[in-house]
Order: sequence, then structure tokens, then C-alpha cells
Amino acid sequence: MLIAYTIAELRHHLTGRNGHAFVPTMGNLHDGHLALVRQAKPLGEATVASIFVNRLQFLPHEDFDAYPRTWASDCEKLEAAGCDVLFAPREQDLYPEPQVYKVHPPAELADILEGHSRPGFFVGVCTVVMKLFACVQPSVAVFGKKDYQQLMIIRRMVRQFALPIHIVAGETCRADDGLALASRNGFLSADERLEAAQLFKALQAMAAAVRAGATGIAKLELEAMAALSARGWKPDYLTVRRQNDLQVPTPGDALVMLGAARLGSTRLIDNLEM
Ligand code: PAF
Repeated sequence: MLIAYTIAELRHHLTGRNGHAFVPTMGNLHDGHLALVRQAKPLGEATVASIFVNRLQFLPHEDFDAYPRTWASDCEKLEAAGCDVLFAPREQDLYPEPQVYKVHPPAELADILEGHSRPGFFVGVCTVVMKLFACVQPSVAVFGKKDYQQLMIIRRMVRQFALPIHIVAGETCRADDGLALASRNGFLSADERLEAAQLFKALQAMAAAVRAGATGIAKLELEAMAALSARGWKPDYLTVRRQNDLQVPTPGDALVMLGAARLGSTRLIDNLEM
């Protein structure tokens, strides 16, 4: 695996290769990320991953410096998963001057759910993804469905800017008890880890109720949040939305259940398509 620490090195490593398949990450890799790399592998001539902890998507109270950096094991894992080129720019290389040009996704997509709980988060995500796309120039990019809203917003961004990049969705990888694999799971205590699968179970229960014909979605959402709260969680949202734009559904829409909740000091998110 070749490693590029600068944009110039990346361009050098990619010279003569066409149609790269790209998996952007912030490192601290788990099997979910590696599944995305394996999924990307047959989709391009070269498989490129990036590791860049993007300061722009951290809110002032979120601890950018405390984000786990696991460089050596990330490199081993990427190499084993078949990554050809790793782009790991230093902050001064990707942001050599304050990033005053930013991508602002529309409020109706980006200020709801995650964007409501974390204002400005998707501006940071879209800006860095646009910049990473400009550096890597992939023909395919793979994003996990675990970050459902992020995937949807990136798809729209690519469409609106007519970027010649095919966005591919990777299924969420789960532990045996259903917990979605996430870098943040590493922050859970042993007791919290046992409890953590309850978020997915709550989404499954909502989906089962909808399938059984429940009509009062607002009531269902409130009950699901109350049930998690009673177990000691602090839910931000548990909600039923339509898949294509995450708005409140109307009859006949394809649905997705989405949830975000804090267990102790760890904030977990998950979703379930119906
Ligand atoms: O999903 C992530 O890890 C990040 O939001 C991404 C897409 C790598 C941008 O920093």
C-alpha cells in the first residue's frame, strides 16, 4: 500500500491509474470501514482510502483532540483489506489557510436530525468530502449506510454539482447483539456495551409497530424515546422518516427508522430501513 501525506504525493501515486474507488474515513478503523474498502475493491482500478480527522465537522464543545488516532493499526488493517493507496494528509496540507469557501447543504436536509443536534456538522462534512473528491478524483466513492443522513446529503451534493462520481452505499456491519459497529463503541464501559444494542432494538420495535399498522407516528416516536430514557439513555431523536429525503412520511413512502441517543457520555446513532 502506498501512503501519500500530501496532495502532490497523492497525485504522483495516482498518475497513470484511472477510475479509482474511494473510501473516506477519519481513521480509528473497525470492520465496518474495512467492509467498505472490500466493497470498493472491485469497483475501481485502484482502491484509495483516506484518513483525515476533519476539524471542520467538530463542534466547539466536541473534543477534536480526543478523537482516537490509531495510525499503525489502521495502516495494517487497510493493507490487509486490499487498499492500494492511503491518503493521509496533514492538516496544514488539506487546510493550508482558513477554509473560508465551504459547501452549505440545504437546511431541509442538513439542519434536521444529526444537523439539528450538531449544528454545522454537515457543512464540515460536505466541505471536506468535496475537497477530498478534488484531491482523489475518484469515479466511485463508498459511504456506509450507518451514517444514513450523511450518505443522503453526499449523494445530493454529487448530483447538484454534477460531479462524475458514482456514490455506492455500504450496509451497516453489526455485532452479534445487533449493535452497529462504530468508532465510538470503543468509549463504552463494559456495562454500557451490554446496554448499547438497545438502540437498534428500539428501532426494530418501531419498525415492527409500523409494519403491524401503527398510524400515530408521533406517539410511536415519543414512546420509543421514553422507553430508552427509562433505561438511562438520553435520546436526541428516534423517528420514522421517508427514505429519499428524511422528511415526515406520507402513506406509501419507503421508510427508515433513525435514532441517536447518548449512553453515559457516548453518543450512538443507528438506523433501520423498512
Ligand atoms: O464518515 C466519516 O467518517 C466522515 O464524516 C467523513 C465522510 C470521512 C468526512 O470526514
